[in-house]
Formats: sequence, C-alpha cells, structure tokens
Amino acid sequence: MSERIRAPKGTHDLLPPVSEKFAAVEDTARRVFGSFGYAEIRTPIFESTDLFARSVGDTTDIVHKEMYTFADRKGRSLTLRPENTAGVVRALVEKGLQEMARPIRLWYAGPQFRYEQPQAGRYREFRQIGLELVGAPSAAGDAEVLIVLFRFLEALGLTDLIATLNCIPAGKAREAFSRALQEHVRPHAGRLGPEDARRMAENPLRLFDSKDPEAREILKGAPATLDFLDDASRAHHEELKRLLAAAGVRFVESPEIVRGLDYYTLTVFEVASEKLGAQNAILGGGRYDHLVRELGGPPTPAVGFAIGEDRLVDVLSQDPRPARSVFFVIPSSEAEVSYALSLADEIRRSSEGAVVETDLSGRGLVKGLSRAGQVLEGGGAGDYPFRVRGVAAVLVGSREREENVVTLKDLATKAQESFPREELAGRLGAARERR
Ligand code: HAM
Repeated sequence: MSERIRAPKGTHDLLPPVSEKFAAVEDTARRVFGSFGYAEIRTPIFESTDLFARSVGDTTDIVHKEMYTFADRKGRSLTLRPENTAGVVRALVEKGLQEMARPIRLWYAGPQFRYEQPQAGRYREFRQIGLELVGAPSAAGDAEVLIVLFRFLEALGLTDLIATLNCIPAGKAREAFSRALQEHVRPHAGRLGPEDARRMAENPLRLFDSKDPEAREILKGAPATLDFLDDASRAHHEELKRLLAAAGVRFVESPEIVRGLDYYTLTVFEVASEKLGAQNAILGGGRYDHLVRELGGPPTPAVGFAIGEDRLVDVLSQDPRPARSVFFVIPSSEAEVSYALSLADEIRRSSEGAVVETDLSGRGLVKGLSRAGQVLEGGGAGDYPFRVRGVAAVLVGSREREENVVTLKDLATKAQESFPREELAGRLGAARERR
C-alpha cells in the first residue's frame, strides 16, 4: 500500500454528521441575519498581502507572525485571509460604496487561515461567521450588531452568554492613553520579553495581547481605557449601554479588552464561554470607523463581529440540525430497483424536508430493514448525517408494483399498512400537518 497523505497540521476535515451541524448553524445565521436585512457577501480566500498589513496592522500578532503569505507565479505577494473584515471593506471600496444605499448590511461565513500553534479550539484553518454594518455612525449601529448577534446565539439555544464590552479612546485621547500606558509600564520594562518590548515601543495598546504572565502582572493597575474617553466617545459608549440594556442584551464592561487587530475605534466586545478551555473566545468584534478611508474609500464608519464557528459548534448544547422524517425505500430484489427509484421521487415531492433514501443494492427487505433500524436506534446521534424525527420503510415487492400499492412500515411502532399509490401525497401531507 502507498503511504497515506495526512491533512496539514492545524486543519480538520468536517465529515457528516459534523458537517451537517456546521451547515445548520450557517442556515440559522442566514435566517436570523436576513431577518435584520443582512445579505451574504463572499470575498476571495486570498488577497494582496498589503491589504492585511494596512488593516489588521503591522504590529499585530496576526500580521507579524501568523499569516500564510506566498508569492504567486508572477511574484505578487498574496496572503490567505486571516480574517474577513479587510476583504469585505476592500470589496466595497472596489465596487464604489459611495454609490450604495446606507447603511450596508452584510454577513459572511467561510474559512480563515492563521499560522498559530494548534491546540484544542485553535486551528490553522478555522471558520468564521461574521457580520458587518457599514455606514452607521451612531451607537444604534453598535447596538444593532450586538442585538443581531444575541438573537443568533439564542436561536442556537445559547441563552446564558454575556458580552464583555470596552471603549477604546480615539484620536488625541488614544495618544494620551498610549503615553499613560507607557509611563505605567516603563519602570518595569526590564521584565518584558523581547516581543513585549517591541509592543511597548511600537504600539503600547498591543501589550494587552500578551500572554506572558510577567506582562499580565505589570498591566495590573494600568490606566483604564474608559478613563481616557473624550466627551463624544463617552456619550457614544453611554448611549450604547443604554440601548443594550433596553434590548435585553447582557454585558459587562472590561477595560482590558482591546482586541488583537489595529482597526478598532471606540466600541470593542468579545463573548467567551466557560465550556471552552484556554481558547475560550467564541467571538469578537467592534467599531472600525477609519478602515474604509484607510483602504482608499470615502470616510465611512462601520462596526461588526466574527464568530469562530468551530468553537461555536463545540459549545452548542442543542443539536442545530432540523429534525427530519427519514424514508428508506427498499426493493425486495434488483428487479424492483427501478420502480423503487420512481416511488422515492414521488415521496420526496410530497414530503418536504424529508430524507428519502433508496436501497440501491437490491439485496432484499431484511438487509434494507436492518439499515433502517440502525438509523432509528441511533436517532441520528450515530454516524447518520441527519437528525431523525421518525423512520419509515417503504417496502417494494412485485405486488406493490403490479397492484400499484404502497407498503409503509413505521420502524418505531412496527405498524405496517398498504394503501393505493394515489393516496401517497395525501397521507404524507396529513402526517405533516399532524406534527
Ligand atoms: P478575531 O477576534 O481575530 O476577530 O476572530 C474572531 C473569532 O475567530 C475569535 O473570537 C475566535 O473564536 C475565532 N478564531 C480566531 N482565531 C482562531 C483560530 N486560530 N482557531 C479557531 N478559531 C479562531 C476578527 O477576525 C475580526 N475580523 C472580527 C470583526 C469583524 N471585527 C469587526 N468585524
């Protein structure tokens, strides 16, 4: 046998039934986000390297050491996207967002790539579901984004999560905050590792990204972001808190959260789960009022978030997949396969949302029924891709074909009945209504 090729380190395949759970989470995103007016955008998986250097920021961990960057055959520097906000803004600027009706409401789902040390919940290829609201300057925009987010989490049965919220000073206030932070850290600078020394010199806010216990210790008692807000920023933050409370979105304030990307202005937030280990952030987001301009567009405020979909699926306590009726159409022999295929088609037409599988082997009723029984017992919990509401077998013998009758066996109750084929649609429709 030839040597097997393994998936690259830090990637993981999604096979059924797990892939179906991801799809169900994405369907829920489409439904909930759509109900607020957000439509899907899909941008390239690779972009010019410059895009991320200019948006996420040169001094961030992501750009500094986590990007998959390569030269294509013409020597252009390209990077597998480490996040999707930059790509969305690039796409809008390229399309000409000044012509578009404001605000622009978009969401996306797809793979992102970061060269990180893999561990539970941390991958090199991972998936995000994100949302961006572009062209909404007021705190109502931040509030809407958090409300959509929490309605989505609730739709998945996650009702006990809390947002941690912060407001990062902007403009001159940010400079004053950075200086105060440097002053606080300077007496202890000798204890900083080389990485944190670089952060301190280049972009002191990034010190909050440090995982070094020494740096964390030094940051205790550091100046708090919220003490440096100018009047306009403070008013924005207070208004957001009022709107969130009115909408029933649960949050706590945390001056430590600055987020690991440079484009944020004012509002930043995260949601973590105790169910996850060290990598406990399910999602993060915030306002980025300068990014559109920095990427060559007209000054346009924006706010959004991205959820780590792999982590989200890990914390779900309820199965996101819709429960479906499953029919196994089982021909008694190979001779009945053709008829079984046409009957299966008819069942699909009259039973929306059902899964109708035909036993293609023609190995007979006993084998076919045993497979259907396994699916019933597993209740969809085993390796069956779908969540199962009920399982029925449709037995197809020469009598069924010749007399044009349907024989249906409910696997749970073992009840079996035969009826004329013309009654099929009516009976399946009635069964649906009874549910
Ligand atoms: P981020 O905090 O870098 O923000 O990523 C968002 C989420 O992606 C994290 O909270 C985490 O759940 C997940 N994630 C990040 N890295 C990994 C990884 N290596 N493995 C598994 N999951 C991971 C952003 O990406 C911003 N673009 C969010 C945003 C949108 N801000 C405004 N709009």
